[in-house]
Amino acid sequence: MPNHPNLGSPHHPIFQWKLFQSFMRQNRELHCSNALNTPKQTKSSREASSPFAELLTRRRGCTMADRSLTETLSEWNDLQKGNEGLQQVFQKYLDDLQTTSYKQSEISSNIARQHRHLADLAKSLRKCEHTPEAVALRIQIQQRDNELREMEGFLPKPSGKYLSLVLGNLNVTLFSKQAKFSYKVEYENFKLYLTCTCFLLTLALRLWNSYKTIDTLLNFLLVWYYCTLTIRESILVLNGSRIKGWWVTHHYISTFLTGVMLTWPDSIMYQKFRLQYLDFCIYLSLVQFLQYYYQSGSLYRLRALGQRRSLDITVEGFQSWMWRGLTFLLPVLFFGHFWQLYNAITLYEMACECGWQEWQVPVQSFTYLLLFVGNFSTTLRVLLQKLREKRQKIS
Ligand code: COA
Repeated sequence: MPNHPNLGSPHHPIFQWKLFQSFMRQNRELHCSNALNTPKQTKSSREASSPFAELLTRRRGCTMADRSLTETLSEWNDLQKGNEGLQQVFQKYLDDLQTTSYKQSEISSNIARQHRHLADLAKSLRKCEHTPEAVALRIQIQQRDNELREMEGFLPKPSGKYLSLVLGNLNVTLFSKQAKFSYKVEYENFKLYLTCTCFLLTLALRLWNSYKTIDTLLNFLLVWYYCTLTIRESILVLNGSRIKGWWVTHHYISTFLTGVMLTWPDSIMYQKFRLQYLDFCIYLSLVQFLQYYYQSGSLYRLRALGQRRSLDITVEGFQSWMWRGLTFLLPVLFFGHFWQLYNAITLYEMACECGWQEWQVPVQSFTYLLLFVGNFSTTLRVLLQKLREKRQKIS
């Protein structure tokens, strides 16, 4: 054809159009054969090798990697099968939950009955003579009571008034030893992070700044911190921690104390006490660092004691570690307690000096005195209790 000398060339538009049409025909056939379960690789490999593959996929409005309807359907069927399995497992899980909840209430009422029975037995035993049998029975009753309390640690309990008020009607019982341990570790870490933050802020205030606004920020942080501690400690106590009641009360009182500090206006009296207060806060942060070291060490050692059968940390090993820790910690703690007494005396003198005009001064003086008495006496009590236990173990 003279008008179309290059018609046979692969670059000629008419040649390309014909090639495209033939490709489309092939593709339609391919699609039909795919619907009749033609192997998938054949189609994709043919499409990929085709010169018009890209053009075609663009026309379809999708990418090379997209699946055909058949593929999607077959995957959907697989998913359906998987989902049936999941539904069955989930149903079983719901049934188990119901059974567990039923068992929990059954065991709880059984334990309550046994507690009452043991209390009756202990009461009648008190009226009996102090024979060796009676003493042995009393010890057994005490042991059984302890076992029941341990069981209660793994059952849901009412949260108590304070937690219900703060968190609402929420179950905060932790059911495994691992969960209890993790919560305690997290509590100690939380105290450490906040102690670091407060330490840096207090140091900055002590060295460079005397703005009341920044002081307020520190006191606000402390109020929030102590408040949070009371919540976390109530959860710990509910989950079987042996924290003495005073340490929790001590944090309620500290919340109150820092709250009063927050409301103290920037007066002459405030400025007079400010540096002593900041120094005390810095010292308290250092005490808390040491407490963290002692408490977390004790936590990990006790866990190792409770979990390993071939104990590589012996009870004696733990005891000697504990006494070494206490020998280092106790002087620092007692110094802190006497600093609290010193704060109480300073504030009392200031209250007399200003004619009791600023209510924050006497209130804080009394609160520091309360903290000194509570902290000092409780620490002494803990120390005496530990010494008594040590003597009992030796004899
Ligand atoms: N705050 C929070 N929890 C405390 C605590 C405290 N001050 N003191 C003890 N606990 C916890 C322990 O972690 C342990 O918890 P667990 O049952 O969940 O394992 C439980 O109470 C029993 O501890 P215990 O054996 O009585 O004492 P300990 O050997 O752990 O600690 C002291 C003894 C004296 C070091 C510790 O009570 C302490 O640091 N007290 C001083 C606090 C103080 O005075 N602060 C103000 C400083 S100015």
